[in-house]
Amino acid sequence: STVSRPASRLGFNPVMVSEADKIILPEGYQYQVILPFGSRLPHPDQELTIGSHHDGMHFFPIYGGNGEGLLVLNHEYIEPRFLHNSYQGRTFSSSAVYIDSEGHRDAKEVLDEMAAHGVTVVHIKRDEQGEWLPTTSPLNRRIDATTLMEISGPARGHEKMRTPFSPEGTQARGTINNCAHGVTPWGTYLTCEENWAGYFYNPTSQPREQQRYGVRSETSGRYAWERAKGSATHADLFQRFKADDEFVNEPNQFGWVVEIDPLDPHSTPIKRTALGRFAHEGVIFRPAIEGQPIECYMGDDARFEYIYRYVSDTTYSKNKPQPNLLDKGTLYVAKFHEDGRGEWLPLVFGQGPLTAENGFDSQGDVLINTRLAADLMGATKMDRPEWGAIDPNSGEVYFTLTNNTRRQAEQVDAANPRAGNPYGHIIRWQESTTLPTHFNWDIFLLAGDQSDSEFAGVPLNDTNQFNAPDGLWFDKDGRLWIQTDMSERVLNTGDFSQFGNNQMLACDPASGDLRRFLVGPIGQEITGITATPDGKTLFINVQHPGATTTADAFKRNQFSSRWPMGYGVPRSATVVITKTDGGVIGT
Ligand code: FEO
Ligand code: CA
Ligand code: CA
Ligand code: CA
Repeated sequence: STVSRPASRLGFNPVMVSEADKIILPEGYQYQVILPFGSRLPHPDQELTIGSHHDGMHFFPIYGGNGEGLLVLNHEYIEPRFLHNSYQGRTFSSSAVYIDSEGHRDAKEVLDEMAAHGVTVVHIKRDEQGEWLPTTSPLNRRIDATTLMEISGPARGHEKMRTPFSPEGTQARGTINNCAHGVTPWGTYLTCEENWAGYFYNPTSQPREQQRYGVRSETSGRYAWERAKGSATHADLFQRFKADDEFVNEPNQFGWVVEIDPLDPHSTPIKRTALGRFAHEGVIFRPAIEGQPIECYMGDDARFEYIYRYVSDTTYSKNKPQPNLLDKGTLYVAKFHEDGRGEWLPLVFGQGPLTAENGFDSQGDVLINTRLAADLMGATKMDRPEWGAIDPNSGEVYFTLTNNTRRQAEQVDAANPRAGNPYGHIIRWQESTTLPTHFNWDIFLLAGDQSDSEFAGVPLNDTNQFNAPDGLWFDKDGRLWIQTDMSERVLNTGDFSQFGNNQMLACDPASGDLRRFLVGPIGQEITGITATPDGKTLFINVQHPGATTTADAFKRNQFSSRWPMGYGVPRSATVVITKTDGGVIGT
């Protein structure tokens, strides 16, 4: 039968897959590269540098701003090979670092690595030629793995938050592995701590707060920061990454959502513990309504982890000063039933299994151990939840499930329908209007090759096949933008070659239209998407170009990508996309 669908909101001709070391866009579109890793962030009084591995990003307009604003972006991790000049021409694989014969790391290197993490706030402007550039501004700011932060919400002051640095358990140092992001209804930026656990190691018996999150047990943390031979002033800044003895609570300071006020460069970032502790990908808010609670959704990006929802206790008001709505509320975890119904299960101390009998002593403890609480509630184990997005027209929530090669046939369920899910899918739900903790869900799209994929009743084709959906965003008109992150371990090899380099697609859910809009250079993922309010300037990030560089090639000073400079080391950077006719992106 023919279902009549509305006309498509997409007006460009799709581009084909590519393995070239460049950005490919549809005809009628142009781009500019800005803010490459290591470039100067101009400030009137400080020397500041753009961090590495750009990820989640938001444009906060100022002065009415389609031509000026604050761009705030996360720096997820680092590539030591591309960061340290002294590594050039030597044998290093992708996250390897130099450890001397006595087992130490150089303190200066480690401080540079900590400084390349975190968040950048950059004041940008469009000039008369239409070029966007960072401008010298007191609002420009770097937040990194050493920045002083406040802890708020139910876990503040909990015994398990107490460290040598903060014996009261009220402050933390720095933020690491910030992946996607969120934007609150009151205009602050949320940065989300994702794969922080691997930065720590504890060779002794680990408490459950470490075990359930994957703190390493042997040798060293991800970059061996704990091995830095530092001066007394930096000693515990480094040592805390060996999370045993007096540092056993250090990992509990991570795994949170951190709130940053981009308009106040002197504000202290705040870790909001009411939103739970896990491998936070991002936070997506439902538009706030005057006099109603605020509501947001979050994914825990690891295999067989969960999707969460948070609802504030008190109500939102645009004009009335009020306590932060992210400090008091209920955190729920999703259960997807086989019949297309779903339920939000509350993670509340004292309710159901979340009791002293199961080792919890308070709501703070439930939140520090969010994953364990969700396990006990019987939530649905998902195929790596990444970004969420809310359709401005229908209010439906979409979430990417990027892949899960470890799902066995007997672990398949309706919401995660593929064994060994190599290509990922996108799930969607609508909250029930009658039952406050129920929803109705369906699978929106199965990514993959032409024999295995499905969207709007048909398989994907040459113009839109993709895999590993990750970034997800609705523009103001209701176009859904999908960004891919196929791992560098499989990129351009075997069955995955058909997808080319990582890419970005635009989708019109209402008309069932999906078209490939952009293909990126070699070895990277496409992430971080935001636009000016008029929708005529789109900003995206190219993260980790050249990640496919082998240790052998690196030793010969060869790189799989030379993007964006065409020479030297590859660098993560922001790409500004406009239409040559000045129109809205996607039309
Ligand atoms: Fe850092 Fe789940 O992407
Ligand atoms: Ca991601
Ligand atoms: Ca990913
Ligand atoms: Ca990434």
